[in-house]
Amino acid sequence: MNTLITTLKSLCGDANVLTHDDPGVDLSAWEQDWRKRVKGRALAVVRPGSTSEVAAVVKACAACGTAIVPQGGNTGLVVGGVPDDTGTQVVLSMTRMNAVRAIDPANLTITVEAGCVLQNLQAAADNAGFLFPLSLGAEGSCTIGGNLGTNAGGTQVVRYGNTRELCLGLEVVNAQGEVWNGLTGLRKDNTGYDLRNLMIGSEGTLGIITAATMKLYPQPAAQLTAWAAVPSMEAAVQLLGLAHQALGPGLTGFEVMGQFALSLVDKHYPQLRVPLFKETPWCVLLENSDSENEAHARAQFETLLETALEQGCVSDAVVAENLSQAHGLWHIRESITMAQAEEGLNIKHDISIPVSRIPAFVAETDALLAREIPGVRMVDFGHLGDGNLHYNVQAPEGADGQAFLRDWEERVNTLVFDQVMRHHGSISAEHGVGELKVDKLPLYKDPTALAMMRAVKQALDPQNLLNPGRVLG
Ligand code: FAD
Ligand code: MLT
Ligand code: ZN
Repeated sequence: MNTLITTLKSLCGDANVLTHDDPGVDLSAWEQDWRKRVKGRALAVVRPGSTSEVAAVVKACAACGTAIVPQGGNTGLVVGGVPDDTGTQVVLSMTRMNAVRAIDPANLTITVEAGCVLQNLQAAADNAGFLFPLSLGAEGSCTIGGNLGTNAGGTQVVRYGNTRELCLGLEVVNAQGEVWNGLTGLRKDNTGYDLRNLMIGSEGTLGIITAATMKLYPQPAAQLTAWAAVPSMEAAVQLLGLAHQALGPGLTGFEVMGQFALSLVDKHYPQLRVPLFKETPWCVLLENSDSENEAHARAQFETLLETALEQGCVSDAVVAENLSQAHGLWHIRESITMAQAEEGLNIKHDISIPVSRIPAFVAETDALLAREIPGVRMVDFGHLGDGNLHYNVQAPEGADGQAFLRDWEERVNTLVFDQVMRHHGSISAEHGVGELKVDKLPLYKDPTALAMMRAVKQALDPQNLLNPGRVLG
């Protein structure tokens, strides 16, 4: 047996080191990315149970020059958490490290291990009487380590920020297998370079996050959800401005959904009963979290929607009567990703541009795409409150998805990303770079920024052992 495997088994226990040589073991769940774009082959999947085990595994891998791919829930959308196909990389699966270590109610913080599933973290906060606001469709299986690794966004960013803004401290194992204990719950600490923020969003290329101290918030007294039909993207942006004014910090969600995206939910999940989408190009989902009471929240919403109807930026709207209706509306929104996966592969983009420029971006880019690919269908939706669109390009009706990707992916990416640059945006708003966009970064990122990123990588991981080939290639 490979001597590294023997060492890893002695460090983590035989049952926590899985290889292709083990009879009856199927490693696909760790080797295949969520969108089924890539299937790698791991040397081994290692599942450490403690920070000291992670440190020992990294030391053992570093000693023999073996690359490590950190993995949480494997829900990433840019092929960042699966091994390459060489059979030489170790997948470091963090899911056994899932404990809630401490809650500090006075400091409004919770300290959890990196493999804690986001939904379990939300529940632990809830049980203690607090809100942990990070929320995304994959929350039942993604981990806080993966959320930090990708600096995930989700549906509450308009009020609470990305994962980065929710994090106060980290515990990290570096590429040399040393443990950095930065698990402070401090809101102020100006003692030099911000290593925490360097690690967040580094997609497993600079260190392995083993635990984190995250912010907690008071639970809102009431939460109301509305679903509005809007006649255009300009109208959606106008509604966003009105919502900011009317709700202030109560505006905790503002999602836009295109008609075709909703028609896919309607087609694949008819039981979900998508409202108002048939007669309008766009729908908007808004959430109002109120610190007073439900009557106050409802009155605020009604005033907002009346103004919006008067100004013509909303043509029709429904306000959820109760929490279960609100969950139903959010479930429709969160089902778009699955519905488009059911429909077949598409060319996915996760872009951000200033909110003010989104209407022009969509109009121009839709026209450019339609001219090149007659009949192309746009699965557009996203976090309009954050200027973040999932601007996905689906093959014309009846066309083969695989062939469409083969023939058009490069051209469509260039067209869309050039447009993003024209509008001063980013080619990855929240999903990260992973492997999927690695070749695009040199084309669309400031060269000085890229050189500085390379210098950081070289300084922290000179052997290029942590998730090689991702982010910087
Ligand atoms: P993985 O997929 O396992 O890993 C992702 C990256 O993080 C990899 O590069 C990996 O190496 C690295 N990593 C994982 N754990 C660690 C660690 N402990 N230390 C260092 N690096 C680590 N993303 C959004 O931003 N917003 C959304 O709204 C959103 N919605 C989604 C909805 C669905 C249905 C799906 C399938 C995905 C969605 N995503 C979204 C993408 C994905 O869920 C997030 O990127 C999530 O943060 C990944 O967490 P994970 O635990 O699954 O990480
Ligand atoms: C979302 O907002 O639902 C996610 O980012 C997932 C996706 O883009 O499909
Ligand atoms: Zn998203």
